[in-house]
Amino acid sequence: MPVDELVTSLKTLWRFDYEPKVKALRDLYEVAKKEQWNASADIPWKLETEHPGEVLDPRQDMFRDLDVVKALPEDKQTEVSVRNAAWILSQFMHGEQGALLCCGQLIEVVPDIDGKLYAATQVVDEARHVEVFHRYITRLHGVYPMDPTLQAVLNQILEADLWQMKCVGMQVIVEGLAMGTFKIMKEGTKDELFRRIVGLTSQDEARHVSYGLIYMKDELPRMSEPDRARVEDFAFAAVDALCGRRPGTGLLTQGAILEEVGVNLGAAVAEIQAKLGDPEFVASQPDPFRDYVMPQLTRLGIITERTAPRYRELGFAV
Ligand SMILES: [Fe+2]
Ligand SMILES: [Fe+2]
Repeated sequence: MPVDELVTSLKTLWRFDYEPKVKALRDLYEVAKKEQWNASADIPWKLETEHPGEVLDPRQDMFRDLDVVKALPEDKQTEVSVRNAAWILSQFMHGEQGALLCCGQLIEVVPDIDGKLYAATQVVDEARHVEVFHRYITRLHGVYPMDPTLQAVLNQILEADLWQMKCVGMQVIVEGLAMGTFKIMKEGTKDELFRRIVGLTSQDEARHVSYGLIYMKDELPRMSEPDRARVEDFAFAAVDALCGRRPGTGLLTQGAILEEVGVNLGAAVAEIQAKLGDPEFVASQPDPFRDYVMPQLTRLGIITERTAPRYRELGFAV
């Protein structure tokens, strides 16, 4: 089976003062222990997926409203939606593995015992998320490979030399993206089983974002100016790569599923670009970057006078 190898250098920190120091992190650790669930026992796996073409919120299933897709016979249109759901969920599943790996690193690199104990609970959360998404995607259709843009961003987080970069990159940006997307999925899905999965998962992701916010709110003002600037630049690079607001960025392999069902990709891309050029359409679409990631970065003070113009160039109101 394929394995990707990444050589990283981690500074592993022991702590010998075991008394709680960061109360908010210790409280989060307590909540995390209480809110554990079991992917094999707490999900109603017996439920049939009655509308496999309506697993995604219609607004997340952008291909289904394209004229080139609507021209297909109905069973082929459903096939597009099923494959699109499997593709999107596969990206989230690979992201869950990235979170699992990153959180294992956080146990080693964060300086506080409270931060280490909490991160240990998140490792179990992410393992459960990998398990639950794999089981669901396999049932729905099958797993798609990880998009290279996503893998590049996750690798940069795993290779980052500052633990604060890992914390902002994974816990605030990637986790914020996951939490926001799972919330939209929970509201819009027609599949009860999937609603249960994303409901429980987004509850965990909210805790993961809280960890990033609690930790970084105290940590950022303590950092040296050059290191802080590196974290700010790192955050922008991750948002820029993932949000896809500039040509050539974002996750670029999704269109392959249209070709799998015989849709002309060029015609589909032209239609999508026309829609994305309409500000009214764009404003009506859910956007986890605009709605979840950017507010958190703003709250943390990661977007500074120095970096704000770059976000504005991408069209974010900051
Ligand atoms: Fe997760
Ligand atoms: Fe997470």
